[in-house]
Amino acid sequence: MIVITGATGNTGRSAAEKLLEAGERVRAIGRNAEKLQALAHKGAEPLAGDVLDSGFLARAFSGADVAYLMIPPNMTSKDPRGEQERVTDSFAAAVKKSGIKRVVVLSSIGADKSERTGPVVGLHNFEEKIKDIGGVNALFLRPTYFMENHLAQIPVIKAMGIMAGTIRANLKMAQIATRDIAQATADALRERDFEGHQTRELLGPREITFEEAATIFGRTIGRPTLKYQQVANSMAAMGMRQMGLSDEGVRLFLEMADALNDRWMKPLETRSEVNTTPTTMEQFASDVFAPAYNRTA
Ligand SMILES: NC(=O)c1ccc[n+]([C@@H]2O[C@H](COP(=O)([O-])OP(=O)(O)OC[C@H]3O[C@@H](n4cnc5c(N)ncnc54)[C@H](OP(=O)(O)O)[C@@H]3O)[C@@H](O)[C@H]2O)c1
Repeated sequence: MIVITGATGNTGRSAAEKLLEAGERVRAIGRNAEKLQALAHKGAEPLAGDVLDSGFLARAFSGADVAYLMIPPNMTSKDPRGEQERVTDSFAAAVKKSGIKRVVVLSSIGADKSERTGPVVGLHNFEEKIKDIGGVNALFLRPTYFMENHLAQIPVIKAMGIMAGTIRANLKMAQIATRDIAQATADALRERDFEGHQTRELLGPREITFEEAATIFGRTIGRPTLKYQQVANSMAAMGMRQMGLSDEGVRLFLEMADALNDRWMKPLETRSEVNTTPTTMEQFASDVFAPAYNRTA
């Protein structure tokens, strides 16, 4: 039995689907029983509950061979970092109590650092809490920046005709489609080819700037002159607050962008066949970005 937390999210849902297609038994965790039904129809055992409830998680992990653990992002919370710590305390207590021996943890590049990486500090601490539990084999997947983050630009493009943010326009940065994280996750959960504590970076197909991403998106949505513009932190903060982020959520995002800009937060591995993943920004643009753009009024 394989337990998938965040089973209705970007990485969890797709990993669960791939595992079910491969004939694995999957227990799918999310808060909302109705949203889990799509996976139940594909053969998963749905289990609705809150990751803050470690008793619930321990029951979910009991009798399982391996579990996929992810921290649900909640940047609208007044205290996103405090919430991350409560979630990861809950996960650690449940891993201990259930006696599960193998976990795959969704972490991030930058999780090697204990400070100045915004929300990624929570992932660093998550890795440490899992390492502190004796006798658990853990694989820490450290993907780079998600291509899906660009979906937040759709309302900005519709309102202002540009993409805007605080990341440097010409910063060459690895970016990954979440479908590739899901594939790597499903592979790791099936193969269970890790012992002790291991990290595995997932770096997308190539390094690409936001300027280049804007050109690709523009071409795909019929706005060939679309440009990305780096804006001041104060302006980006206004936009993020309008999107519902709390003041602390905004502060953490700006800190992470600064960490990416000055390369404090970066991959540790050199690019190789092992950490390179297949989906290009062009494929992401036509499969995910353009359909989402066209669906938005
Ligand atoms: N964005 C990036 O560039 C990046 C890069 C590296 C790492 N990461 C990490 O990736 C993770 C996000 O992964 P993702 O995109 O797959 O997540 P996601 O799409 O936001 O999915 C979140 C999942 O968690 C569930 N959930 C939310 N709150 C819950 C709760 N209290 N109890 C139980 N389930 C809950 C949601 O389902 P329901 O709402 O149905 O409950 C959903 O299935 C974060 O930890 C982030 O730090 C992100």
